[in-house]
Amino acid sequence: MTSTLDDIRSRISELKKQRNAVILAHNYQLPDVQDVADFVGDSLRLSQRAAQTDADVIVFCGVHFMAETAAILAPQKTVLIPDLDAGCSLAATITADALRKWKAEHPGVVVVTYVNSTAEVKAESDYCCTSSNAVKVVESIPKDKEILFAPDMFLGEWVRRQTGRTNIHLWPGSCHVHHKIKTDDIVALKKEKPKAEFIMHPECGCLSTALPIADKVLSTEGMVQYAHSSPAKEFIVATETGILHRMQKDNPEKRFYAANPEAVCEFMKMITIEKVLWSLEDLKYRVTVPKEIADRARRAIDRMVAIV
Ligand code: 13P
Ligand code: SF4
Repeated sequence: MTSTLDDIRSRISELKKQRNAVILAHNYQLPDVQDVADFVGDSLRLSQRAAQTDADVIVFCGVHFMAETAAILAPQKTVLIPDLDAGCSLAATITADALRKWKAEHPGVVVVTYVNSTAEVKAESDYCCTSSNAVKVVESIPKDKEILFAPDMFLGEWVRRQTGRTNIHLWPGSCHVHHKIKTDDIVALKKEKPKAEFIMHPECGCLSTALPIADKVLSTEGMVQYAHSSPAKEFIVATETGILHRMQKDNPEKRFYAANPEAVCEFMKMITIEKVLWSLEDLKYRVTVPKEIADRARRAIDRMVAIV
């Protein structure tokens, strides 16, 4: 017998009560998954929610590093990811060994790592940051301190520009999804939709060439909030397309256009509503981080969560 979407939703809601579970979903998740979540947000807000929740079980609908961060912040909780293969091409660009080698080449530096990284890499870092607080995190570090920023070079370049610091070394990592967003396509779309505001995520590979025409550079949550508060009625959105669902739902009278409709993160899309149900049924797949790594990574993550 096949289950309808309504059956799946009501089964999820029963199991959530039975298990005292909360469902956290990233802004890039599939619409059905966002709609069944208790909270939808960006990496920073999701980490804060995971740290604060009273639930016993957290079903993390996002990618693996996000669930790992939740497991580090809430070690006494059961943190589940509905599909263990939901990885991140950006996080995969750096290993703990490679970071240790890089640090050895720059003695005395401060390491700032984007949350899109493994727990092992975070454990080698002094600070973590997300796209919404990267500039503030770097500003909290004395100006004369040399910084290694990993793994996203475009976010790092944005931080360099915003802080005016020249002593930031960048790891050459990037996200394959944000790489698909091109300045020429944005220019063409702006001609078609002349009244639309153009907002972009700092992970975009076209950051430096598209910056002169951008109205705002924002994290995914920053984009959602800006779309709500801006008087504009149309927006060109340069990030993963999953965010358009939430923007459209929150602002039915406004119109949102993807800078590239093919900017779809296949890792984020591995989480389906059926898998959310199976995750709650069988308490799978549990994400844990070895204590020794979690304790070292938590220092850097706590600093990230504290700087809003
Ligand atoms: P946000 O922190 O802006 O939600 O970004 C997460 C991410 O994976 C971007 O690709
Ligand atoms: Fe990673 Fe890019 Fe997917 Fe974000 S969109 S989770 S950075 S692969």
